[in-house]
Amino acid sequence: MPAITSSAPGKIILFGEHAVVYNRPAIAVPVQKLQARAVVIAEPLAPAGRVRIEAPDIHLSSDYESLAPDHPLRVTLQSVFRELGIQRIPAFSVRISSTIPVASGLGSGTAVTVAVIRAAATFLGRTLADDKVSELAYEIEKIYHGTPSGIDNTVVVYNHPVFFQRGMAQPTIETFRVPAPFWLVIADTGIRSATAQAVGELRLKWQDNPTAYEPLFDQVADIVLQARELIERGRPLDMGPLMLENHTLLQAMGVSSPELDHLVEVAVAAGAFGAKLSGGGKGGNMIALTDRENAGQVAEALLAGGAAQTYLTEVYER
Ligand code: PMV
Repeated sequence: MPAITSSAPGKIILFGEHAVVYNRPAIAVPVQKLQARAVVIAEPLAPAGRVRIEAPDIHLSSDYESLAPDHPLRVTLQSVFRELGIQRIPAFSVRISSTIPVASGLGSGTAVTVAVIRAAATFLGRTLADDKVSELAYEIEKIYHGTPSGIDNTVVVYNHPVFFQRGMAQPTIETFRVPAPFWLVIADTGIRSATAQAVGELRLKWQDNPTAYEPLFDQVADIVLQARELIERGRPLDMGPLMLENHTLLQAMGVSSPELDHLVEVAVAAGAFGAKLSGGGKGGNMIALTDRENAGQVAEALLAGGAAQTYLTEVYER
């Protein structure tokens, strides 16, 4: 049997992180330049049931059953077996590689999960529908994030810009077109930050004083709707002020950091139309909105201003 390969992109949250946990809408886009890949190969000489995981990037080489019971890769494979009703697991190996930096809000864990789910299911003779893959990936997100909104698994699975809003029963998930391109310079502060911690701290503050935080979430929701309209009307470069407003609201939620604030200022001084932190905050990444012409100079300024790494991505969906 030939090797089965599946890839999934990184992602970036354009608007609405954190407020999305409180049922406000958010927009996320895939980052095609960054990909996670899972390659599944049959191991006909190994005993049935032996599933090997090789992830050299994180120095992991193990039988899946030797991993901790709550290890995301173990839980991912078990959920695929359960979903497909596999009684007798054939021997196989999964080789995982990824160009998505870990723990920096670019969806590396999610992309690995989605690639593994799809590659394993295909190897086992089945194709899972996108909504099913997303549902399974959401369960794994809980291990990473505690109380994830579901936006990460959604954008990575659908591999399109998505408008996402959690609901009482089902989330609203709308993929949408981006008729005019825009560029995002993603800059990594180099500071690792756990999304679960930022989400947890905000939750405590919100529980303590909901009237201070609910209006911030409402203002973010308003920004998200305006941003989507600008994108769909082909005016994405006009989103700059909305990004800065969203960043100010994230500062008020207490999820920014001096490094993120500094890089936002640097980006704007270098000619970006707008900039904001992206994802969990407290470190991790920020994004700057540019056109093709000024992307390079903004990226250079961000590196000179202390960014550990920058990535450029074009967002365009005909
Ligand atoms: O840190 P990231 O990029 O995975 O994003 C987390 C986004 C939050 O809104 C902060 C949490 C969530 O689950 O939506």
